[in-house]
Amino acid sequence: MFSFLNKDQVTGEVAEQALDESKIPAHIAIIMDGNGRWAQQRHLPRIAGHKQGMNTVKTVAKAASHLGVKVLTLYAFSTENWKRPAAEVNYLMKLPVDFFGTFVPDLVKNNIRVKVMGYTDQLPASTQQAVHQAIADTAHCTGMVLNFALNYGGRAEIVTAVHGLAQQVKDGELEPDDIDDELISDRLMTADLGELRDPDLLIRTSGELRLSNFMLWQVAYSEFVFTEQHWPDFDQTSLETAIYEYQQRHRRFGGLASKKS
Ligand code: IPE
Ligand code: IPE
Ligand code: MG
Repeated sequence: MFSFLNKDQVTGEVAEQALDESKIPAHIAIIMDGNGRWAQQRHLPRIAGHKQGMNTVKTVAKAASHLGVKVLTLYAFSTENWKRPAAEVNYLMKLPVDFFGTFVPDLVKNNIRVKVMGYTDQLPASTQQAVHQAIADTAHCTGMVLNFALNYGGRAEIVTAVHGLAQQVKDGELEPDDIDDELISDRLMTADLGELRDPDLLIRTSGELRLSNFMLWQVAYSEFVFTEQHWPDFDQTSLETAIYEYQQRHRRFGGLASKKS
């Protein structure tokens, strides 16, 4: 079931007080959209929206961790975002350097471990370096996993998985009939998240009602929450409101039992 939160609903307090702490979604995935529109509304260049959006990532990561979320996956750059003007792409590629350069101590303090999924070998060397350093610096953290989708695309991910399985068949290691859900899931970029690999809750900001090639396989039974808020305006209250909405849903996974999330 889709739900659309309007701006009046995202006012806070109600959600905070009503949240059921025993039903916090273990894996939340967010399509962080609307940085450009946020900037445009303020007559600022689009990159100002990306900069503000980076601050929102810090706020939301800490809020999610405090609420007990186990995995927070954030769509930061898609395999299609290379189509944007070079200046914007260059700015987006520098953001992880800024982000991790300033935020890693806070991540460690909050016991948050960084993970990245996507075709990172295609990123500029300085971006790769920042990402790898952040992963190394937080490798000992045992709390929430902050999983950045960077140069990520759901179709490309599935194509890569199919290549791998086809190669195994060709090499005589696998029969085509042996290929099942599990073997495909094991070859996706979320495989190392184990039983947490499929998001429970998917949030998209800024009013677009589409997936834009995000986690196509993994969201098969995720609950979707859409909000009109632009990503730079999203905050702890917005997150709590989305979780509250999630807690009102009945997840059935194709069965009949009306199991509340
Ligand atoms: C999301 O904001 C950030 C990225 C896709 C990198 P947008 O840049 O897509 O902002 P809008 O959708 O143009 O407002
Ligand atoms: C999806 O947003 C990608 C990220 C949030 C990183 P886009 O802004 O690229 O999606 P479309 O183009 O509106 O579908
Ligand atoms: Mg967009």
